[in-house]
Amino acid sequence: MPRLVIVSNRVALPRQTSTGGLGSAMHAATREQGGLWFGWSGKLAEHSGAVLHRQQHEQVDYVTMDLSRTDHDQYYAGFANRALWPLFHYRAGLVEYRRANMEGYLRVNELFADRLLPLLQPDDTIWVHDYHLIPLGALLRQRGVANRIGFFLHTPLPAAGLLIALPRHQELLGSLASYHLVGLHTERDQRALDDYFLHEAGARRLADGRLQDAAGACFRTRAFPISIDTGKVARQAERASRGLKIRQLRDSLGTRALVIGVDRLDYSKGLPERFKAYGRLLDRQAGLRKQVSFLQIAPHSRDTVPEYRQLRHQLERSAGHINGRYAEPDWTPISYVNRSFPHQLLTGYYRVARVGLVTPLRDGMNLVAKEYIASQDALDPGVLVLSRFAGAAQELDSALLVNPSDTEEVTEALETALSMPLQERQRRWRPMYEHLCRYDVNYWCKDFLDTLRQQPTGAIAPATV
Ligand code: G6P
Repeated sequence: MPRLVIVSNRVALPRQTSTGGLGSAMHAATREQGGLWFGWSGKLAEHSGAVLHRQQHEQVDYVTMDLSRTDHDQYYAGFANRALWPLFHYRAGLVEYRRANMEGYLRVNELFADRLLPLLQPDDTIWVHDYHLIPLGALLRQRGVANRIGFFLHTPLPAAGLLIALPRHQELLGSLASYHLVGLHTERDQRALDDYFLHEAGARRLADGRLQDAAGACFRTRAFPISIDTGKVARQAERASRGLKIRQLRDSLGTRALVIGVDRLDYSKGLPERFKAYGRLLDRQAGLRKQVSFLQIAPHSRDTVPEYRQLRHQLERSAGHINGRYAEPDWTPISYVNRSFPHQLLTGYYRVARVGLVTPLRDGMNLVAKEYIASQDALDPGVLVLSRFAGAAQELDSALLVNPSDTEEVTEALETALSMPLQERQRRWRPMYEHLCRYDVNYWCKDFLDTLRQQPTGAIAPATV
């Protein structure tokens, strides 16, 4: 089987505790066929890419490079996370476009292409991930790489009308035509991309369903909903629930119901809205006070980006406000924790929690929702309250689906979840769990890679970026 080469901004190095979904998905993919995983080391150095750091683990070579402060600020913090991230999450008002940042983004993508090129073998299958590296495929083609190259976008993609607000969108998004296959999480995201190409970029649809851009490049777009290692998560949760920490948590809760939220601290996750809905619950249902505890785990993220720092302050105020208003000497309504936890322990927390509260304003998929389901005890499962705007809502449709901006709706869903009889909890949980057992991360990987390897090669124009 051809070697798999994965390229992503972050590389989940072996033995690193990672809560990211991509990490576990990619470990699963490379474990079987061996390969190379290339990306940023997460570290800064005086010059970008001056040295390549290499390590090997279970048939996989991990190769990373450092970035200079300027490259980090322009490519990662500036363009990827202050222009593309908010735009792709439908937050046009937060987009901070600067020409220098876009230049930095293209420059770092060129560097990725230059450093990766000597590591490639002719029959490698290359899989590029996420919004940091959109132009990479086109840049590799310019350097003569004729291999099969696939791209997967882990964020949502908004409608074409919003995408065209990005300066030089043709250059950036048009470069996706250099891949053989572009995968997105949901059909809605795929429709947005098709619509962009068909109506804004002069592409046409071929008889076999692929798109052909104005320069003649042919590529396929398709939805591949990412998933989790369901069996592994279920086993971890079961094991964790017997461990000391989880027993201590159960003891401290007593008869109180636990509501849990676990998110990177990001404005796309709808945390202020979630806190507000929980505050409203305590306000409306005095009888629930001391009967419920809300644990929100939100490790800090992208601290160099101003919008993230503002959100931190906003949430600290909001959690403080709720606790100040409702806490009792023997009860803290909301535990707001900014650390990350070992994955196994998290699955134990999910299992203890009567409610999983997953209410992003927009999310590509949201694997916490899937892990919450996988972690439940079949005899006494909890209830998932899930935003309609998480990609996961397309599959987990027997969760309590809510619009996260509608505070009353989220509050009511919490009330319903907290009082839901066992039978209904089981009736809702079972089909979601079975779905996740069938469509797990291995299915996702195989489906993407099989589809990529079926795409006709050749006839890919060396697109300009
Ligand atoms: C999202 C993105 C990933 C990214 C992760 C963590 O899930 O889709 O590409 O790695 O967030 O964000 P960070 O900026 O810390 O890499």
